[in-house]
Amino acid sequence: MGPFAKILLLSICVAYIAVKWTAPSFDPESLRGARVLVTGASKGIGEQMAYHYGRFGAKIVITGRREKALQQVVERCLSLGAQKALYIAADMANESEPDKVVDFALEKLGGLDYLVLNHIGSSSFSMWEGDVEHTRWLMKVNFFSYIQMAWKALPSLEQNKGSLVIVSSVAGKMPSPFVAPYVATKSALNGFFGSLYHELALKKSNVSISICTLGLIDTESAMSKVKGLVKAPAYPATEAALNIIRTGATRQQELYYPWFTHIICVIRDWFPPLTNYLIQNSINYNP
Ligand SMILES: NC(=O)c1ccc[n+]([C@@H]2O[C@H](COP(=O)([O-])OP(=O)(O)OC[C@H]3O[C@@H](n4cnc5c(N)ncnc54)[C@H](OP(=O)(O)O)[C@@H]3O)[C@@H](O)[C@H]2O)c1
Repeated sequence: MGPFAKILLLSICVAYIAVKWTAPSFDPESLRGARVLVTGASKGIGEQMAYHYGRFGAKIVITGRREKALQQVVERCLSLGAQKALYIAADMANESEPDKVVDFALEKLGGLDYLVLNHIGSSSFSMWEGDVEHTRWLMKVNFFSYIQMAWKALPSLEQNKGSLVIVSSVAGKMPSPFVAPYVATKSALNGFFGSLYHELALKKSNVSISICTLGLIDTESAMSKVKGLVKAPAYPATEAALNIIRTGATRQQELYYPWFTHIICVIRDWFPPLTNYLIQNSINYNP
């Protein structure tokens, strides 16, 4: 490695440590009795978030489509220490459901301190073959339902100095192959909530917005899709979930998990041919 590359790498590491050092510290007690709505919590990262919130003694409402799975998650949350745990089954592709879910949480919890938007509709890990209808459907589930729920919950979050937490992906910042519709929805989330962040700041709003950029996480659904096709390591869902919760509770604007996704996103535009090589080389594909 040449001296320039060494200095560059060292500067990035120093800057990263400085940012981490000055980050606000997380007090789990701040979540005791907090009123939280987590979407997509019947499995995966959302399920793990529900358990963490339960351990911290929060009052939570969770949602997803599968009633039985939601019921089991709720029972476990209660056994872990949640002050309250309720579920509502809803399909976010249905335009009336996002409002219904927020209304349910507001009524049952008496207001909201956290809205954690995490659900995603299912999509394949393959070349795009022109299925516009599926992309339209995915935009409904992964994007339009998010902005609908955020708008519906904002007055209560405003009243309670609350937080809006958006679970996004590194794919929304750095497009990768085989997930074009998914990338479109995550880029839309980053753009929309990035803009809303500034609008709330200009209005001197009480509400914080955190956008969480995740790399590959070892949930069952992600692993079953990328098995044999992606060469990147996967990181634990429970750790990702805890980092998302911390980011919301400390009202930070952004999370990058695992940490190196931040560096990848920062240097993305510096050497496009290198970035393209790394992205394409992380996929096993033989035409
Ligand atoms: N895992 C990764 O590698 C990874 C990487 C980067 C970012 N992320 C982000 O992390 C978040 C969670 O990912 P994950 O891997 O935990 O996902 P997951 O395991 O597939 O869970 C998705 C959740 O969304 C719910 N859901 C699916 N379709 C729905 C619909 N039409 N209406 C309402 N709910 C629906 C599912 O519940 P039902 O089946 O009961 O409906 C489930 O609870 C997502 O925002 C994802 O983009 C994940």
